[in-house]
Amino acid sequence: MKALVLAGGKGTRLRPLTHTAAKQLIPVANRPILFYVMDQVARLGIADVGVIISPETGLAIRDALAPNPWGCHFTFIPQAEPLGLAHAVKVAREFLGSDAFLMYLGDNLVGENLQGYVNEFEQKNPDAMILLKEVDNPRMFGVAEIDDGGRITRLIEKPDNPQSKLALVGIYLFSNEIHAAIDAISPSARGELEITDAIQQLVERGKTVQSSCLQSWWLDTGKKDDLLDANRLVLDEWVQHDFRGSVDSESRVVGRVVLEHGAQIIRSEVHGPAVIGKGSRIENARVGPYTSIGLDCSIISTSLENCVIMDGVCLEGIEKLKSSILGRHATVRRITEDKQVIRLMIGDDAEVCV
Ligand code: DAU
Repeated sequence: MKALVLAGGKGTRLRPLTHTAAKQLIPVANRPILFYVMDQVARLGIADVGVIISPETGLAIRDALAPNPWGCHFTFIPQAEPLGLAHAVKVAREFLGSDAFLMYLGDNLVGENLQGYVNEFEQKNPDAMILLKEVDNPRMFGVAEIDDGGRITRLIEKPDNPQSKLALVGIYLFSNEIHAAIDAISPSARGELEITDAIQQLVERGKTVQSSCLQSWWLDTGKKDDLLDANRLVLDEWVQHDFRGSVDSESRVVGRVVLEHGAQIIRSEVHGPAVIGKGSRIENARVGPYTSIGLDCSIISTSLENCVIMDGVCLEGIEKLKSSILGRHATVRRITEDKQVIRLMIGDDAEVCV
């Protein structure tokens, strides 16, 4: 079996961060989202991995995957324009050949090992296997309608009036029948070739489309709050107490905290789960819980919780920063006496005075 990981697209819902970086490379607990996707693919023993890349961010994706701790063989497949998930499969056709494959959207995170689903796919040999999860906002997703026997009756992409709350998770297993189904569909109202429509084609052609409900949590990290949720969940599940930096005698560290090499905690409190990257300096500050701080940040006289702080960020005098995402090398300074809670989403290199 091969894998096709989709790391193209435009990431418009995560602007301004995605003006300068690929959304799949935004860090969750200080690791790019795409690395968790690759962890999952590698855990399944799939070595032959196609990666869809866009002209804007393709090089950054290639560079990020280059150290390749997973030992996979990557084939990078350029997609000139983000014309849809099914279009991405179309441009990958030469790579995929007639093999069955796992398709994984590079901004989706799930909290469980997928081996059971892959085993079921390999045993039962359907033409497609989709994973479903009940959501509160089905209009944002592909949605599956199923009958009393659990059989899929209809799949519809981002419906205006959803008849079901079962969303399609961005992880699919396909036989080579999907290619003919893709050839038979036309672009949707938003101008994309939808994979949901291609799977609906399989249903209409009487092919076998099987569904399973995902047991664990699932997040599509395409928006700010989802990204913060992902950061919280991953910190919760992944962080173990690990100290490689220094903590002075006037500081207090509570709970599970990763302090990377060269990080310094000076006259500060850190509440886990939290991760503080290499070379970062936390001084007269209160950090966490549910906060990740990247490399070489400077957090001075500031209190923050539930935040994703990327590499090289400087924060000074910020009383209460909550539920915020700050891009690389952003600077936030206090210039007023106002002590209200601040929530920010700012891009790389931004300078903000509050
Ligand atoms: O997250 C699950 C949802 O993903 C499903 O429920 C929907 O049925 C499915 O259409 C998809 O919806 P999104 O609107 O969230 O897809 P998005 O445009 O965010 O693209 C998902 C990933 O695929 C993202 O990492 C970018 C990449 N991509 C996207 C497009 C449109 C490509 O590589 N090429 C593309 O042409």
